[in-house]
Amino acid sequence: MEYNCSLVTVVVVFLCGFRVCFSLTSDVHVKNFISWDDIKVDEHQTRLSDSRVNHNRSRVIVVNKNGGADSVTVQGAIDMVPENNTRRVKIYILPGIYREKVTVPKCKPYISFVGNAGQMSNTIISWNDKASDKDSNGINLGTYRSASVTIESDYFCATDITFENTVVQTPGEPGMQAVALRISGDKAMFYKVKVVGTQDTLLDEIGSHYFYQCHIQGSVDFIFGKSRSLYQDCVIESTAVRSGAIAAHRRDSPDDDTGFSFVNCKINGTGRIYLGRAWGNYSRAIYSNCYFDNIINPAGWTDWNDPLRQKTVVFGEFQCRGTGANTTGRVPWSKKLSFAEAKPFLDMKFIDGPQWLRL
Ligand SMILES: *[C@@H]1O[C@H](CO)[C@@H](O)[C@H](O)[C@H]1NC(C)=O
Ligand SMILES: *[C@@H]1O[C@H](CO)[C@@H](O)[C@H](O)[C@H]1NC(C)=O
Ligand SMILES: *[C@@H]1O[C@H](CO)[C@@H](O)[C@H](O)[C@H]1NC(C)=O
Ligand SMILES: *[C@@H]1O[C@H](CO)[C@@H](O)[C@H](O)[C@H]1NC(C)=O
Ligand SMILES: *[C@@H]1O[C@H](CO)[C@@H](O)[C@H](O)[C@H]1NC(C)=O
Repeated sequence: MEYNCSLVTVVVVFLCGFRVCFSLTSDVHVKNFISWDDIKVDEHQTRLSDSRVNHNRSRVIVVNKNGGADSVTVQGAIDMVPENNTRRVKIYILPGIYREKVTVPKCKPYISFVGNAGQMSNTIISWNDKASDKDSNGINLGTYRSASVTIESDYFCATDITFENTVVQTPGEPGMQAVALRISGDKAMFYKVKVVGTQDTLLDEIGSHYFYQCHIQGSVDFIFGKSRSLYQDCVIESTAVRSGAIAAHRRDSPDDDTGFSFVNCKINGTGRIYLGRAWGNYSRAIYSNCYFDNIINPAGWTDWNDPLRQKTVVFGEFQCRGTGANTTGRVPWSKKLSFAEAKPFLDMKFIDGPQWLRL
C-alpha cells in the first residue's frame, strides 16, 4: 500500500512538479464522495476485537449503552476519532436511547452514524435543551446551541437513527425553539433517519445535503436554515395544534444557489400548516410530486409579515396531489411551476449530487 503511494508520488513529481504533488499525495486516501458503502457496517468487521479496519481503510467504532463495546456514549466514540482524519469512520450505535448532547466538530470529517438496518426508531439520540435555557455562564443558549445533535464536519452520513429534542413547544410561549439536529457541514447524506421535535426541529443550516427516505416531525418552522438541500421520498409530519409551518428557508440574494426542494414527499399530521415562511427576502422552497394531506393552510405560504418579500421569494409547487394540494386558495405570489421551471429542483443535480454522491 505505502509502496504504491510513493510510486504515485514519484510519477507525479516527475510530471507536474513538487508543490502540486504534495497535495495530490495527501489526497490519495481521501474519498471525496459518499456512497452506500459509507453507511454499511460489516458485522464481521465489528466482531474483530483488534484492528477494525477494512481494506477500504474505513474504521468501525461500536457504541453500546450497556457496555461491552468501544464506548457507552456516542460522544465517546466521536472523541476517539483523530482530528483531521482522512478516512471514513463508521460509528455503529446499538439500539437504545442515548440521552446526551452530541457534537461532531469541524475537524472530524468522514464520520457515519449507523444504527440497525430498518430500525430507525430503535436507536435514539435524545436531549432537551431549548433556546431560553441558560448555559454555564448564565447566557441564553439561543436556537443554534439548543441542538441535541450538532454536525459541523463535511461528508457526514447517518442511517437508521432518530435525532430527538423532547421539548414540547407551547403556542405563544417565547424561547421554545428546540433543535433536534443541526447540520452545518457541507456534503451530508441522511438515509432513513428520523428527526423529531416541535419548534425548529431541523436546522439545515449551511452546505449541500441529501435527505432520502427520512421522517421529519415538528410543528413550527420545523425545517429551517440557509442550506441547499434535497428532501426526497421523505415523510414530513406536522404535530401543529392549530397553526404552524414546515419550511423556513433563509436566502438573502437572488444569486444564492440555496433552497429546500421536496420531491415525492408525503406531508401529513395535524394542524393547519403553511408549506413555507419567507425567512429572508429571497427564501426558496419548492414541492414537487408530493402528497399533501388535508392539513395545509389553503393560502399555502406566508411572507413573514413583510409584503415586500412577496416580489422576491421563490415558493413553488409542481404536480402535487392530495386534498391539501388544491391551489385554489393559494397566495397569488406563490407559483404553480411548469415542468421546465421545476426541472432544476427535481433530482440530485440541484445539490451538485453528481459531484459528491455516488449512489
Ligand atoms: C470496498 O469497496 C468496494 C467498492 O466500493 C466494495 O465493493 C467492497 O465490498 C469494499 N470492501 C470492503 C472490505 O468493504
Ligand atoms: C488539524 O488541522 C488544523 C488546521 O489545519 C490544525 O490547526 C490542527 O493542529 C490539526 N490537528 C492535528 C491534531 O493535527
Ligand atoms: C404520516 O405518514 C407516516 C408514513 O406513512 C405514518 O407513519 C404516520 O402515522 C402518518 N401520520 C399521521 C398523523 O397520519
Ligand atoms: C430585504 O429587503 C429589504 C427591503 O428591500 C431591505 O431593506 C433589507 O435590507 C433586505 N435584507 C437583506 C438581508 O438584504
Ligand atoms: C379546490 O378548492 C376550491 C375552493 O375551496 C373548491 O371549490 C374546489 O372544488 C376544490 N377542487 C378540488 C379538485 O377539490
